[in-house]
Amino acid sequence: MILVTGGTGLLGAHLLFKLATAGYAVRATYRNSEKITVTEKVFSYYSKTPEILMDQIEWHEADINDLPALETAFHGITEVYHCAALVSFDPKDDKALLKTNVQGTENIVNLSIANTIEKLCFASSIAAIGPGIHGEMINEENEWSDVPTTTYALSKYLAEMKVWRASQEGIPVIIVNPGIIIGPGFWRKGSGSFFTFAAKAPKYFLPGGTGFVSVEDVVNSMYQLMQSSVQNQRFILVSKNLSFKKFSAILAKGLGKMPPLFELKKWMISLFWRWDWLRSKILGKRRRLSKTVARRLHLMEKYENSKLPNQLDFNYGDLEHTILQCCTIYLKDS
Ligand SMILES: NC(=O)c1ccc[n+]([C@@H]2O[C@H](COP(=O)([O-])OP(=O)(O)OC[C@H]3O[C@@H](n4cnc5c(N)ncnc54)[C@H](OP(=O)(O)O)[C@@H]3O)[C@@H](O)[C@H]2O)c1
Repeated sequence: MILVTGGTGLLGAHLLFKLATAGYAVRATYRNSEKITVTEKVFSYYSKTPEILMDQIEWHEADINDLPALETAFHGITEVYHCAALVSFDPKDDKALLKTNVQGTENIVNLSIANTIEKLCFASSIAAIGPGIHGEMINEENEWSDVPTTTYALSKYLAEMKVWRASQEGIPVIIVNPGIIIGPGFWRKGSGSFFTFAAKAPKYFLPGGTGFVSVEDVVNSMYQLMQSSVQNQRFILVSKNLSFKKFSAILAKGLGKMPPLFELKKWMISLFWRWDWLRSKILGKRRRLSKTVARRLHLMEKYENSKLPNQLDFNYGDLEHTILQCCTIYLKDS
């Protein structure tokens, strides 16, 4: 049986759909039963009978920091896809990020070793890869550097270290490092909030850019890597490096809005994160932009994506088509 952690998130829900469609017996972790309906909603985007596929999933309540609950989740498990994580750039969540992403992953690793599972796939992030120097392309070998970085990036890097330990203890592992994952259903958080924001027809776009990938490409590559004999390697999953200007223009096209015309200047971003900080201090609101994230927004980060297609029979899908499809689903959902 396969275990998927984070089955109520964007990646986990799509991975569950893939595995259920392929006929696997799957156990998925959840924390809040209401969120399981979101996974079913994701299934309904792709299937007319989502409930039949949902029946193939055995849901198991477990926080990845709750060892006893996690222990029972591992009964009879042969393969693990570890997708659960806290994704946040609010400095208020720094402690929680390290606890969930690092200690939580350590728990998954320890139980994978204790249960001698056959293979472990860890969803990391391009955030866990060292930055490019002087704007050169970033590949899987780039050395990690933690200055300046976000706690989210640090937590994913430290989590990778835990996963490498599993490989040293004889568990075959795969680490994937996706760029910004584009997929439908989670419009108010993470990458989904780009759609909600773009629907407001903003006048400004962000200056830099980064790697993007469809959730379908992430799911298919994780699945293929787990099926293959490839092990103990990490793979960047980026189908295209896009400037935020280009990304915003595609979103605007898909949502029937005017594309934003003006680039946010350095001083505007600088003013915004200070205002955001003050607002969080006075009103206790969540931070939307930290100083570290603000600094990184100016960068045009470019990722090499040839390692995966070179090792597997794998071709990335058409990213623009996926973004436009997601816009159509967004408009229907809202
Ligand atoms: N989305 C992206 O653009 C992106 C890019 C690169 C890498 N990634 C990585 O891909 C993975 C999946 O991301 P996503 O976009 O699917 O995130 P998401 O939509 O926020 O889903 C996160 C999942 O993790 C679960 N989770 C969080 N804390 C947990 C805990 N303490 N115990 C158990 N489960 C917990 C959540 O459960 P609840 O539903 O109960 O909150 C949810 O199911 C993460 O590892 C993330 O770092 C994401």
